[in-house]
Amino acid sequence: MEEMRLQKFLAHSGVASRRASEEMILQGRVKVNGEKVTELGTKVYPGDEVFVDGKKIESEEKKFYIMLNKPVGYVTTVSDEKNRPTVMDLLGDVNARVYPVGRLDFNTEGLLLLSNDGDFTYKVTHPKHYLEKTYHVWVTGKAKTNALRLLETGVYIDGRKTAPAKADVLESSKGSAVLSITIHEGRNRQVRKMCKEVGFKVLGLKRVSEGGLNLGNLPIGKWRHLTKAEVDLIEKNASTGGEKK
Ligand code: URA
Repeated sequence: MEEMRLQKFLAHSGVASRRASEEMILQGRVKVNGEKVTELGTKVYPGDEVFVDGKKIESEEKKFYIMLNKPVGYVTTVSDEKNRPTVMDLLGDVNARVYPVGRLDFNTEGLLLLSNDGDFTYKVTHPKHYLEKTYHVWVTGKAKTNALRLLETGVYIDGRKTAPAKADVLESSKGSAVLSITIHEGRNRQVRKMCKEVGFKVLGLKRVSEGGLNLGNLPIGKWRHLTKAEVDLIEKNASTGGEKK
């Protein structure tokens, strides 16, 4: 819980509306750390114990779900020991303590989710939920069919075979191509390592979709809140995904 006015705390905790919570305070029904509080401006702080009609109220933080179009050159962390720019630097106006849900490499751009909901984070990131992530990959090298089939059936990276994936060619010219690769694992630098293993040099990598959500036309470096339907969709895909394979 962060520092906030008592009536706001009660409303956030689902006790009653802000207005009704004010009434409860004025009626002398609310105690903070054993003391009756009837002053509306009173603030509560982390660790304070709040009771209404003798019943302890547990704080329930509002949940935030955010999609960011991460640019290249930002680390996916809350703070960086090398003082590099972090994805949090792009969220100055979010007004909530969210953290990244999974990660994208420093040199990878695209769809990154952030939230303060631990259950959501677990569903999106735990490999057992088989959540699909699609990447567009700019490569040099010829997009030969057998390389793509290898990516799909699995290649050995770090001594372990990758799970079945989808790989398609979006564009191809003489010495370069743009591929679309969909994986449901989340191993370290997985797409880069898979591409290297079949002979492609990766020039650029962008995540365009995750768990059924598309990046769409969100400008680079910008964020937006997910809609309720989008949160439901990703949670549904995370909880049924394991049965698909
Ligand atoms: N695979 C990678 O190689 N890098 C990422 O950032 C994400 C997936």
